[in-house]
Amino acid sequence: MRAAFRTLIAKTWRQLNHEMPIPLYRPLPDFSKTDAWRAWLADPDVPDELRARLGLYVHVPYCLQECSFCYLERRLVDGTVGVWLQSLIDEADALAPILEGTPFRTVYLGGGTPGALTPAQLETLLGTLADRFDLGDVAEWSLESDLPSLTAPKLEAMKRHGVTRLSVGLQNLDEDALAANKRLVGFDVNAKLALLESHRFDRLNLDVIVGIPGSNLANVEHTVRTAIQLRPTRISLYTFNPYEGYAFDFTDEAATDRFVRERAEQIELARRLVGEAGLPDHDNLQLHETMTAHAPLVGLGPSANNRLPLHCYFKNPTTQQYLRDPNAVIGRRIASIDEELECFLFNCLVRNRPADLRLARRLFGWKPSAVYAFCAERLGDAITLGDGVIGRTPGDDVAFGELLLERFDLGREQQATVTFPPELEGVPEDRLAEVMIGY
Ligand SMILES: C[S@@+](CC[C@H](N)C(=O)[O-])C[C@H]1O[C@@H](n2cnc3c(N)ncnc32)[C@H](O)[C@@H]1O
Ligand code: SF4
Repeated sequence: MRAAFRTLIAKTWRQLNHEMPIPLYRPLPDFSKTDAWRAWLADPDVPDELRARLGLYVHVPYCLQECSFCYLERRLVDGTVGVWLQSLIDEADALAPILEGTPFRTVYLGGGTPGALTPAQLETLLGTLADRFDLGDVAEWSLESDLPSLTAPKLEAMKRHGVTRLSVGLQNLDEDALAANKRLVGFDVNAKLALLESHRFDRLNLDVIVGIPGSNLANVEHTVRTAIQLRPTRISLYTFNPYEGYAFDFTDEAATDRFVRERAEQIELARRLVGEAGLPDHDNLQLHETMTAHAPLVGLGPSANNRLPLHCYFKNPTTQQYLRDPNAVIGRRIASIDEELECFLFNCLVRNRPADLRLARRLFGWKPSAVYAFCAERLGDAITLGDGVIGRTPGDDVAFGELLLERFDLGREQQATVTFPPELEGVPEDRLAEVMIGY
């Protein structure tokens, strides 16, 4: 099997496909988060353009349900919530004096399910952030929830504290499909949907997932049509990707073929319905800003990423470890502008988002022609140039992913560090690509 393909599959299986440097992260034993941010803020070589886009991400790893399809860093609400909240407040306290006077542009509370916190916990969390950080000029403040967690007092607390964009996971509204994925059933769905009507936020995003056990064309259509009736500003469509830890049987060829075919049919239908309703099918400002505008990110809570472009990237430990030692981060220092430019280009192009050459000039001081040459030298005719942006020549996602890993220096480094999952050895290459990446 091709080396870059193996790396691509291994990254996807371990859910490391979003951020290029993650597989290159290593423990940083003498690392201080506060020193890192202090140095970044004081560095005259960090352009104002970057500083003006600072984002805050807060990871709430708790949920009221443990969905079997979910690959995120999450656990059921338990007796550790208080310890987690205190650690997060401690993190915020340590960073607050350093970030004083630096306004944030975006805030994103993700998880897990931030909406699963009690009203009192939400009050404390949202109040802590507002007290410690400069959030007076935030362009968008997002918070994720599932349906069962939503209550009027929580929605009121969110509004009071400035949340402007609510993102709610409908996933699939069919009871059998929910139960097949260990999601909660038996609650009054219509009452929860009515809450979304009575407590409207500036923006409402609804998540729908296709391809999970029990989903079919009929219940996907019902879910998307119900979502559209709620007049959201966006609907985010997810295609279920089996991941490490999910017992997907790659040896059952017929079942695998069926999975790939049905998921493709469901996503096609869902995209068509969303398109006909005039809604975009993708929305995640935190990710959007972070990836396309290369925004720096302060990340609090378990597994939260911190991005300090031109300096370093680091990630908080998983929940279990975070509760013991929130400072046990892993990460990578950025040694050169070339490395940072690769991160920028990778993160845009891997999502098929244009890489803006004018932005690159402002961030890296490179002429557009030099950035284009830098990228063309690596990716040849797999990229296009037009209207001040680099895009992708239409083609196969898998082939393009492989190219990024083969031709970028950081990509080649990843090939040397990412081990192929033993449980996937022997599965035909085409099947791996179809199940895990293509749809
Ligand atoms: C952090 S969750 C937030 C949603 C919220 N906790 C809920 O359950 O409604 C973000 C999204 O990731 C998606 N997701 C989770 N596991 C996935 C998987 N294995 N493959 C593809 N998407 C997945 C889900 O659709 C979910 O809405
Ligand atoms: S899908 Fe949402 S509620 Fe379900 S486990 Fe994942 S984060 Fe929690």
